[in-house]
Amino acid sequence: MAQSLTILGLESSCDDTGAAVVRGMPRDAQVLSSVVEGQTGLHAAFGGVVPEIAARAHAERMDIVVRQALDEAGLTLSAIDAVAVTAGPGLIGGVMSGVMCAKGIAAGAGLPLIGVNHLAGHALTPRLTDGAAFPYLMLLVSGGHCQFLLVRGTEDFTRLGGTIDDAPGEAFDKTARLLALPQPGGPSVEAEAGKGDAARLRFPRPLLDREGCDMSFSGLKTALLRTLDDLMDNGQLRQQDRADLCAGFQQAVIDVLVEKTRRALAVYLAEGPAAPVLAVAGGVAANRAIRAGLETVSAEMGVAFLAPPLALCTDNGAMIAYAGLERFASGARDDMTLAARPRWPLDQAAAGMLGGGRKGPKA
Ligand code: KG4
Ligand code: ZN
Repeated sequence: MAQSLTILGLESSCDDTGAAVVRGMPRDAQVLSSVVEGQTGLHAAFGGVVPEIAARAHAERMDIVVRQALDEAGLTLSAIDAVAVTAGPGLIGGVMSGVMCAKGIAAGAGLPLIGVNHLAGHALTPRLTDGAAFPYLMLLVSGGHCQFLLVRGTEDFTRLGGTIDDAPGEAFDKTARLLALPQPGGPSVEAEAGKGDAARLRFPRPLLDREGCDMSFSGLKTALLRTLDDLMDNGQLRQQDRADLCAGFQQAVIDVLVEKTRRALAVYLAEGPAAPVLAVAGGVAANRAIRAGLETVSAEMGVAFLAPPLALCTDNGAMIAYAGLERFASGARDDMTLAARPRWPLDQAAAGMLGGGRKGPKA
């Protein structure tokens, strides 16, 4: 009988300071507490995450967030078996803040230290929330990431494809900025799209004509700018035009994600998984129209669709604690030489093709 583990997890790779306590064993763990402190207000005036501001805020707040997570779990450090921390990829100053804090806690309390890949945290979340069995297909879609991962084991990931430029969340945020809608752009563009006609203004579907699962979203912004120019009347944009722009843009993102998901599912299904599952993670998974598209394509292909609760889809400490739990249970240990890494692809074989983005390296 495997032993139950209690893991403290720290996350600070972008603009959320997270700490959480997770208890249990692989595929059977509970979140005892999860505290996330966002930094949206700190970056609002700059139109994007400012790495130095993010790093300082993580350094100032991480110990407080950790204390709160322990308090909410009703535990002290003496009940913790190991400290897990995001060691990359991400904005390096923030990752360093978390790693240093985790090292301090581990050294002070005499606890083992586990470095976790942030993307593995997202990718293993369906095992925390639904006890998903390997292998499953993960679509990670957020403001910083967009990739298909075939998840075969705790440390066994194959990247089937991903964005070659912007992540979809980034495209939603840029669209919102161009249309003077509030940030983060995803929810405001989705709300506008609900009032618009998706068929009126046609946007490109980049890379659909090309084989494979790679995607591109940066061209959508240019197309949007051009259409916006045509629609502007004396510097004014009619309400209906704005809604139609949002609806057309969102439909283009949906069509690309759905078609590329169909292809990734075909690759995954060719391996003959016994109980096939498509899981999503990342803030963009909150979009109801995108979710509906993914659900439909999954159903068509006889694959179960899993969407973890939103609080565990976006950046949080619980996914890091859980990924740490899986690593710890399989015997992995790190020590005080653990380094913060700005880039850290999950799939080394696919590492060559990746670019950078507004929220840091794509990994
Ligand atoms: O996973 P997340 O919280 O943070 C990282 O990017 O790491 O994702 C945030 C992103 C933002 O770009 C936001 O605009 C997008 O997710 N997002 C959405 C929606 N809600 C959040 N995109 C489309 N539709 C939504 N409803
Ligand atoms: Zn993330």
